[in-house]
Amino acid sequence: VIRVGIVGFGTIGKRVADAVTSQPDMTVAGVAKRRPTGAAEVAVRRGFSLYAGGAPPAFESADLDVAGTKADLVDESDVVVDATPAGVGAEHRDLYEATDTPAIYQGGEDGDVAETTFVAGANYEAGRSAASTRVASCNTTGLARLLSTLDSSVGVADATVTIVRRGADPGTVDRGPIDDILPDPVGLPSHHAGDLRTVLPDVEVATMAMKVPATVMHLHAVEVTLGSRASVSSIRDLLADEPRIALLPGGAGFDGCGSVRELGRDLGRPRGDVWENCVWTDSMDVSGGVFRCFQAIHQESIVVPENVDAIRALVGDADGAASRERTNRTLGVGLDLSDKRVPA
Ligand SMILES: NC(=O)c1ccc[n+]([C@@H]2O[C@H](COP(=O)([O-])OP(=O)(O)OC[C@H]3O[C@@H](n4cnc5c(N)ncnc54)[C@H](OP(=O)(O)O)[C@@H]3O)[C@@H](O)[C@H]2O)c1
Repeated sequence: VIRVGIVGFGTIGKRVADAVTSQPDMTVAGVAKRRPTGAAEVAVRRGFSLYAGGAPPAFESADLDVAGTKADLVDESDVVVDATPAGVGAEHRDLYEATDTPAIYQGGEDGDVAETTFVAGANYEAGRSAASTRVASCNTTGLARLLSTLDSSVGVADATVTIVRRGADPGTVDRGPIDDILPDPVGLPSHHAGDLRTVLPDVEVATMAMKVPATVMHLHAVEVTLGSRASVSSIRDLLADEPRIALLPGGAGFDGCGSVRELGRDLGRPRGDVWENCVWTDSMDVSGGVFRCFQAIHQESIVVPENVDAIRALVGDADGAASRERTNRTLGVGLDLSDKRVPA
């Protein structure tokens, strides 16, 4: 059983901890965070051993038992998932390397923090020979899933993507905008294009991004010049076969990202999470050799299956197909709505 240490217990870390708990071949060695906030209390109540990311006395004065420091947690772990805020993971690299502990970083880090950047369906094998990897950001993961699925069958000559980004996660109080629409960044292309090349080096992609006052999801408007002739129905069948892509049928009330999130909640998923890329079937169009669609990406959860697969790639013995299948089955990834009308 792989002992997984999780450093950072926020939006991503708490979800990865729960996902690891549901894997038959993994266990959570413990979780580390800096401050004795409510999330630290949650970690203890969920049965995770708590390690101090900062000074242990802060936890003791809050009457929270800590099992040690984050260095102790690294010692207890076969692999570490670092889910700290952007830039903090890089500060932890020496800690992991000093004990030769394989490490998985998140998409907020620069690409050179790890040997590879990881999206399970696109480049699982690259993770197998690495001592460290970076799970791509939520937007890059969503794009890499879609483009690698298309590329594997019909080919992708190039792609242009407009990314409408949520301004903040629910519960985040210091980000915005609250009443504006921001080109973000103004300089084009946005950094997502370069990030995507770290996963799909042969796919030519241009990206433009903006931030809006929303917390629910990201929305992508995708245009792909296909490498060979394909019809809408053949692409629909191709995407329907990929469990990490869900097709939202027309006439089912999926008028926006809010109703997609509501579906996750109504299905009783943990935290209402939607791990799949959600592609509106009615948006799918092919003309002049270009495929177009809208897809929604739940930023808080899309990278969770990828983190589980990254753990297996680095220190497990499963190949990519076996790992993805196990992760999908244990988490419940896969929303087959293609021939149904689901009231939303
Ligand atoms: N949120 C998203 O939508 C999203 C999606 C994909 C990827 N990512 C990436 O995932 C990473 C984490 O993002 P997040 O949104 O999960 O962040 P977050 O919600 O702010 O959580 C960060 C966690 O790291 C802990 N932490 C901070 N400094 C630490 C330290 N020195 N030692 C140990 N723990 C420390 C924090 O604990 P304290 O509260 O105690 O400080 C908190 O538990 C970033 O690289 C981000 O870019 C985020």
